[in-house]
Amino acid sequence: MISDRELVDLAFEMLNRSYIPYSKFPVGAAIACADGTVFTGCNVENAAYGSTICAERTALVKAVSEGHQNDLERIAIAGNSADYCWPCGPCRQMLYEFNPNLTVLVARADRQFVSFPLHELLPHGFGPKGLAQAE
Ligand code: THU
Repeated sequence: MISDRELVDLAFEMLNRSYIPYSKFPVGAAIACADGTVFTGCNVENAAYGSTICAERTALVKAVSEGHQNDLERIAIAGNSADYCWPCGPCRQMLYEFNPNLTVLVARADRQFVSFPLHELLPHGFGPKGLAQAE
């Protein structure tokens, strides 16, 4: 099984795949599944800025579209940032859909990282169960 350190390093490897003509801020991500499969991602920007896709969502959509919906265990997020490269709100929400207990490894430029369960980064999140309606 891939270690946290290795998953973070894979996320850093994705920085040079980022398409970032506008922000010049590369972000990389790597998701580890229970069976050991890893999906990577980078941010992909767009001239219509709001159409940009973050690194975490790139990796997530790759995993889900390849059949990994119920076994996402860890995600590493890497940036060349002085502070830890915290996942944005929409990425937290997208990840929450598939696993509120997902382990989120958040790294900064010196490759140090911290680890949180997703539900601590998105407390009282809205997920599939939230759609249940009262009688
Ligand atoms: N970005 C990510 O890829 N993930 C995040 O969670 C934070 C922001 C990207 C989006 C944009 O391409 C650049 O970082 C600056 O916001």
